[in-house]
Formats: sequence, structure tokens, C-alpha cells
Amino acid sequence: MRNLATIKKHLILCNGEQCTIKGANKIIESIRRTIKRCGLHDHIHTTRSLCNGRCEDGSIVIIYPDAVWYKNVDETAADKIVKKHLMNGQIVKENLLFKQETKNHG
Ligand code: FES
Repeated sequence: MRNLATIKKHLILCNGEQCTIKGANKIIESIRRTIKRCGLHDHIHTTRSLCNGRCEDGSIVIIYPDAVWYKNVDETAADKIVKKHLMNGQIVKENLLFKQETKNHG
């Protein structure tokens, strides 16, 4: 069973119909492979989702708690999302769709 206490980020990988037409299955496998290869498996949880309502921008990848939505994710972008965003905390600007403002409710 997955140890939730070690998870730092959760990726929602759109696997809705339109994103799938745009290659989501390959992208999802590529992201998961890269996460594993980079040793991030214990810290990153990924979930395939149904449509996220932005089909025209697909494939869509969403990262929480960063509240960052990525658009037009192909295998190249997927690699950058893992290596730049997940490993170094930097936004992949060329694929940024939206960054939600997050408030500290503490
Ligand atoms: S199928 Fe991915 S946003 Fe609609």
C-alpha cells in the first residue's frame, strides 16, 4: 500500500477523450517512467483523470499543491515538467496554462 506520508506532490494526468486523442496515454506513461527513473516515485503521486474541461488545451497535466495547470503537454514537455518543475521547482513557462492563487488558510 502507498505510504501517503512521503508524498509531496500530486499530479492529475488528464486521460479524458480529447486528451487521449492527443496522445495522453503515451504522455502518462512517459511521465511515470521519468518520475521513477529520477528517483521521485516515493514523493510524487499520479492519478489518471477524466476530462478536466480544457480539451482545446490538451493534453492537460495539473500539479498540486502548486495549483499549476499545464497545457499542450507532449513527451518533450512531460520530460521538462518532471525535470524542471518537480525536481527544481521551476515553472515550464512555455506550457503554463494557469497558476491558481493559493491562500494560506493556516
Ligand atoms: S479530455 Fe483532457 S481536458 Fe478534456
